[in-house]
Amino acid sequence: MEKILLIDDDEGLIHFLGRFFQRKGYEVSACLSGRDALEQIERESFDLILLDYKMPDLNGIDILIKLKKSQIKTPVIIMTAYGTTELAIEAMKRGAYDYLIKPFERKELSRVVSEALIVNRQMKEMVSFPDSSSRVLPDSAKGSLQIIGNSKKMQEVYKLIGQIAEKDVPVLITGESGTGKELVARAIYHHSGRSQKPFIAINCAAIPDNLFESELFGYERGAFTGAERTYIGKLERCDGGTCFLDEIGDLSFPLQAKLLRMLQEGEFERLGGSGTIKVNVRMLAASNKDLKKEVEEGTFREDLYWRLKVIAIDLPPLRERTEDINALVDYFLSRFSAEYQKSVHYIAENMRKKFSSYSWPGNVRELENCIRRAILLCTGDIISEEQFGFLEPKDEHHLQSLNRDQLLVRLRDKLEDIVPEILRLSKEGIHANIIDMVEETLIIKALEECGNNQVKAAKILGISRNTLRHRLKKIADK
Ligand SMILES: Nc1ncnc2c1ncn2[C@@H]1O[C@H](COP(=O)(O)OP(=O)(O)OP(=O)(O)O)[C@@H](O)[C@H]1O
Ligand SMILES: [Mg+2]
Repeated sequence: MEKILLIDDDEGLIHFLGRFFQRKGYEVSACLSGRDALEQIERESFDLILLDYKMPDLNGIDILIKLKKSQIKTPVIIMTAYGTTELAIEAMKRGAYDYLIKPFERKELSRVVSEALIVNRQMKEMVSFPDSSSRVLPDSAKGSLQIIGNSKKMQEVYKLIGQIAEKDVPVLITGESGTGKELVARAIYHHSGRSQKPFIAINCAAIPDNLFESELFGYERGAFTGAERTYIGKLERCDGGTCFLDEIGDLSFPLQAKLLRMLQEGEFERLGGSGTIKVNVRMLAASNKDLKKEVEEGTFREDLYWRLKVIAIDLPPLRERTEDINALVDYFLSRFSAEYQKSVHYIAENMRKKFSSYSWPGNVRELENCIRRAILLCTGDIISEEQFGFLEPKDEHHLQSLNRDQLLVRLRDKLEDIVPEILRLSKEGIHANIIDMVEETLIIKALEECGNNQVKAAKILGISRNTLRHRLKKIADK
């Protein structure tokens, strides 16, 4: 359970926030004064701190300075009253993660808090790899992740990480989806001289083009309609730290130019701002696309490519390092059986053989999900073939040999795969009714699939023909 510390002398607000977060499933502690808070933070570690600016003993900035001096990585969100935006920005310069202007709305509060908790996890969860000196971070009570695999190809990857982590140069990490690019980026961060500074990941594919610049560079109040407060962009928050540009291959051409300019000059302006802002940020980028090919085809800027690719790490697909599969299976077995409190320690030997001959199109992520699900379904202490019915077959004809339950698990797996992307897109302020959109898309595709035969389409969709007609009418009436 994630732990949030509230620091505010306003008991009413503490009460409201306490209930708000407890209902969301967080553990909450509260302090009514700055001094109490500092003592509490010394005794206990937290995942997030909400800190009021104006308090009778120490003000928010004094507390923040003390926290940063003792190298506590927990993100701090400063709360200030309306009209004190300058103070909030001052706090951000001193390392606060974000700020909230009182009175704030629940939606804004939830958004800022959930973003900050993700950053907290990424910064504190240490990622280690074989032979890496397991440096212990002062605030790293959050367990650790490991990069598993001793194949020759992975050893080369570890060697490279070891050589460049501390070198402060940009790194471009490539590899198919699920090969561990993000894990490698985090390992570089944890083993770099910037490990006590922020690590901020930006998923270029998830941010709509028109919001990308403001996310990255920030904006001044009034810069455009709807810009109600000054927003400090991700780059500015990351000053002194590491910025991970994930899915860089999905960045549009004009945005590539803007990013390049920032990288060349080391400075930028907030949208609608007049002063330049200088930041010192180490760039790590990742892509599952073949960027060299994109450069040749003219869809990725060559100058940006070379600037990001000072060092390149290419992660091998799992099918090219099948000797690592057993170790990965053991690692996920022990991780998930602990996480789900199950005592599953073995996997049927014939399954291990099948694993090595399978092609793993989704790479380590697919293997990870496969073991996680098997552990959840498993009732004894050994995982047998039964629990792997959902393993994606190489040959689609194989689908015919699956029973209904296995097909249902496959279907649910597929849905779980695509839903996060849909939610991510709609989270960016589209405010469309996605449930209707999903329904409409499913119906139209099903009809296309069976040449507009409504009886067949209804059967595929698992609804009656009448229901299908009814829904089609609803779509037509829109
Ligand atoms: N070598 C490894 N050892 C242990 N876990 C791994 C390894 N490689 C990947 N994983 C795990 O597999 C999952 C996918 O890894 P990650 O997110 O880093 O992949 P990715 O290359 O960024 O994929 P995508 O291109 O889809 O974003 C994560 O849960 C990660 O922890
Ligand atoms: Mg990734």
